[in-house]
Amino acid sequence: MTGGKFIDFDNLAQDVQELIRASIEVRKMSYSPYSKFKVGAALRCDDGTISCGCNVENSSFPVSICAERTAIARAIADGKRKFLAISIAADTIDGVITSPCGMCRQFLAEFNDIPIYLTSPTMTNVLQTSVADLLPFSFKLGSHITT
Ligand code: THU
Repeated sequence: MTGGKFIDFDNLAQDVQELIRASIEVRKMSYSPYSKFKVGAALRCDDGTISCGCNVENSSFPVSICAERTAIARAIADGKRKFLAISIAADTIDGVITSPCGMCRQFLAEFNDIPIYLTSPTMTNVLQTSVADLLPFSFKLGSHITT
């Protein structure tokens, strides 16, 4: 495994534990009648507040939005622009921890590089990675390499 390390929940800092718990809690609000796959995301903003989001699905499947983008959009609408960390909670799939889809990786990469905590609802496995690890060499207007 590259770009991430598993950490025991108990060994994480208090503020990270709080963020992880928030992502597990908001996951319960998921509107996912089609996939039945609930996802929660909790984004720590630089003023210390947490912006939470869940996936919201739609009869027209591609219209659905992921938990990560819901949390970020909510933070932006609340006037937050700098983020410190994000936790994403979802079931494992065939024993593999769930990680953000490509669209969410790009959405995250628009802002500053932050640690990403991926957790199952039971917190048995918490994988710490980062935006840059999950989307290296990402496209960014203004800061991408032009030569
Ligand atoms: N989903 C998320 O909300 N975040 C992820 O990181 C992966 C996938 C949602 C989208 C859809 O509602 C459901 O999970 C199944 O793909």
